[in-house]
Amino acid sequence: MSAELRDLCYLLAAILFIVGLKGLTHPRSAVRGNLIGALAMLVAVVVTLFSRNFDWTLIIVGLVIGAIAGLVLAVKIQMTAMPQLVALFNGLGGGASVLVAGAYLINKSDAITRGDVGIDGLISTALSGLIGAVTFSGSLVAFAKLQEIKFIQNIRFPGMQALNGLLLAACLGGAGLLVTQPEHASLYYWLVVTAALVLGVFLVVGIGGADMPVVIALLNSYSGLAAAATGFVLGNNVLIIAGSLVGASGVILTQIMCVAMNRSLTNVLFGTMQASGPVQSADEVYATVKSTSADEVAMLLSVASRVVIVPGYGLAVAQAQHAVRELSELLTEADTTVEFGIHPVAGRMPGHMNVLLAEAEIPYEALKEMADVNSEIDQVDVAIVVGANDVVNPDARTDPNSPIAGMPIIDVDKARTVIVIKRSLSPGFAGIPNPLFAAENTLMLFGDGKQAVLDIVKAIREG
Ligand code: TAP
Repeated sequence: MSAELRDLCYLLAAILFIVGLKGLTHPRSAVRGNLIGALAMLVAVVVTLFSRNFDWTLIIVGLVIGAIAGLVLAVKIQMTAMPQLVALFNGLGGGASVLVAGAYLINKSDAITRGDVGIDGLISTALSGLIGAVTFSGSLVAFAKLQEIKFIQNIRFPGMQALNGLLLAACLGGAGLLVTQPEHASLYYWLVVTAALVLGVFLVVGIGGADMPVVIALLNSYSGLAAAATGFVLGNNVLIIAGSLVGASGVILTQIMCVAMNRSLTNVLFGTMQASGPVQSADEVYATVKSTSADEVAMLLSVASRVVIVPGYGLAVAQAQHAVRELSELLTEADTTVEFGIHPVAGRMPGHMNVLLAEAEIPYEALKEMADVNSEIDQVDVAIVVGANDVVNPDARTDPNSPIAGMPIIDVDKARTVIVIKRSLSPGFAGIPNPLFAAENTLMLFGDGKQAVLDIVKAIREG
């Protein structure tokens, strides 16, 4: 294949990547966006394969192993374990960058010794190894933490930040030596990689579980930067473009998540928690909790003209998405307006609720963003909270000492009546009591999310 045709195809792939990303910005176009992105990757891979001479046996063995691993993971992985999977994918991307840059140094060792490889090639090789190795080890630690592997949880010790500073200095020093003394490039490269691997572990190991998804978004961005640096090493334009897109979108996602959880990036990275006062005991908060039954909820819904359903992590655990679709269809048939209030960090990963509700084919028009729901929440007759807790905790708004103070929430407490469906009064992710459950206008429907919603559906049908 000629270089011109290859570059033209790479340009096409880059355009498709951008169009695909644009598609991902809205639930309606997300599936199409994903397919366009996959098509772009296919174009890039096929064009690369046909533009050079490769050992096809190795390529085919790699493709088969990768395809089988991808297929098994895609089929088997639970939706609630998606953040771990993303962490693993980021790590593999970083690891690939380390290996590709390392292989480049081996291949080009003669040219490097002769001084035929420019400074730009050496700088990008060092960066590829450094960022790739931090991403690799940091992502593996993130995976282990999210998988709740015990020995890795919350390791912190005095002087950790200073150690990280030293490791970073070692990485940068090693990279400097690699560039200035290219005759020993391989030696310095593996020194940089080793220091960066240790740095990745210590950067992530001290970060609290609540901040882990933010860190994963950041590592995602790093994996993109590592890929872009590898693109410079190989002189491959499409890798530079795709890596930059991943790097930039990862940074944007990190920023969105920080805002939604009311955390600053420095807080996340340096592990400093929000100032919080003593948390009220659950017994004090829950003194006036009232429980209800599916029949009573059905009666309330029969006279409601506007209902908002707020899904949370418990909806994912209970797999109640199809049950809530059934409930919303039933209410809509009875001329009740039903909307879904989606909090940006409800669940355990960005877009968690959108994915679940889309799976149950709930129309996109019914999904409302937090700000839109809040602006009209006082006109809502019944708010049904299914397995959500922190994202509807009014303490975030009213108690400046709360650990979640300032986190934007869906103000369901301002609806006329609130039904909260969950199994018990156990706390959510933040581990704090929720005064919503004891509010005057709240009724608790205790039970598994799916079963409770199906019971309401049954009661409405029989009513
Ligand atoms: P949470 O505050 O975690 O509360 C979930 C609730 O679901 C629990 O209180 C639990 O109560 C209930 N539940 C569990 N299994 C259930 C089942 N089978 N049926 C019914 N209820 C069930 O969830 P949320 O309101 O969605 O808030 C998300 C939290 O995760 C926030 O603190 C957020 O900052 C954090 N977070 C989010 C993300 C992203 S990106 N989405 C990432 C990291 C952290 P019971 O045990 O009593 O049933």
